[in-house]
Amino acid sequence: MNDGALAGRVAIVTGAARGVGAAIVRDLISHGARVVAADNGASIDGRTEDPALIAAFAEACGDAVLPLAQSITAPGFADAAVTLARERFGGLDIIVNNAAILRDAFLFKGNRADFEAVVATDLTAAYDLLRAATPVLRENAKTTRAGWGRIITIGSTAALYGNYGQGAYASAKAGLFGLMRIAALDMARSGVTSNMIAPFAASRVTETIVPATPAQAVYKADALSIPPAPIGRFASFLCSARAQHITGQVFGVRGRETFVFSQPRPLARATTAPDPSLDDLAALVESEFAPHFTALETDLDAFSTTPVL
Ligand SMILES: NC(=O)c1ccc[n+]([C@@H]2O[C@H](COP(=O)([O-])OP(=O)(O)OC[C@H]3O[C@@H](n4cnc5c(N)ncnc54)[C@H](O)[C@@H]3O)[C@@H](O)[C@H]2O)c1
Repeated sequence: MNDGALAGRVAIVTGAARGVGAAIVRDLISHGARVVAADNGASIDGRTEDPALIAAFAEACGDAVLPLAQSITAPGFADAAVTLARERFGGLDIIVNNAAILRDAFLFKGNRADFEAVVATDLTAAYDLLRAATPVLRENAKTTRAGWGRIITIGSTAALYGNYGQGAYASAKAGLFGLMRIAALDMARSGVTSNMIAPFAASRVTETIVPATPAQAVYKADALSIPPAPIGRFASFLCSARAQHITGQVFGVRGRETFVFSQPRPLARATTAPDPSLDDLAALVESEFAPHFTALETDLDAFSTTPVL
């Protein structure tokens, strides 16, 4: 369906060769956009690469997609991607930070090198692409691309709820939430929007889930049937002119279900006596705050309801 909603728009999508990223690329080009599709064909833990993957994907997509097989963590990647978009497609309007790796381990079994590798791919590289791309998106405001520019960050409910053993991944994704909000603020005057999508879709990531509870087992069984295409369609919506006023928000897409998430704000306020005792604080917390406490449930437990496909 090419309704021309994104005709003339140019995007960079990371992690574009498969799963959610590929679905986003397919939908963006179906609405007329052209895409620099970045993917190094990483294994799920990021330890090995297969550059042929993105070349094959781009070829299947046709002229609207240019492959970039460099790792997003490679020095110079971000500037190279922006230059490629401008030189080959004549500009840049859309950034989709989607690529991610996982190295799950309980805190008491993990190691710092794995944590840093996950943060480097899932968070630092996303920052670096925005660092390289946002000057161009700001410049758009002074050209025929005025009032145009979109940043989409692919987050995860693992950061919003938490899940066992995902200290590195959830930390990186929580960092992306902050980055998404800052991008919304920093770019507001240029008419550039910034939003997050927490996706739910069958991918090799879903296949690796090791259920820790019966509800997580239900989640996994259902998740393996969820197509990624609706995430691509919602991304195209956020990129379209119809979403020009939507920024700083966190959405979820699970098949035909779409969610908007709350964001942390104070739920209750209490004033202590001067120099309160620990008993005073205990009493205050129990009476004023305990009713607002957040349950310690994982995202997989929370979304073990049957998806609508
Ligand atoms: N599938 C889900 O249900 C789900 C749930 C929550 C969050 N997510 C998020 O959605 C996004 C896509 O996940 P997916 O499920 O499609 O996973 P996926 O593993 O199928 O796709 C990720 C892609 O990123 C690429 N990639 C990884 N490291 C890279 C690097 N250094 N340079 C370039 N490319 C790199 C991989 O090669 C891969 O093609 C990720 O951010 C993931 O955290 C997915």
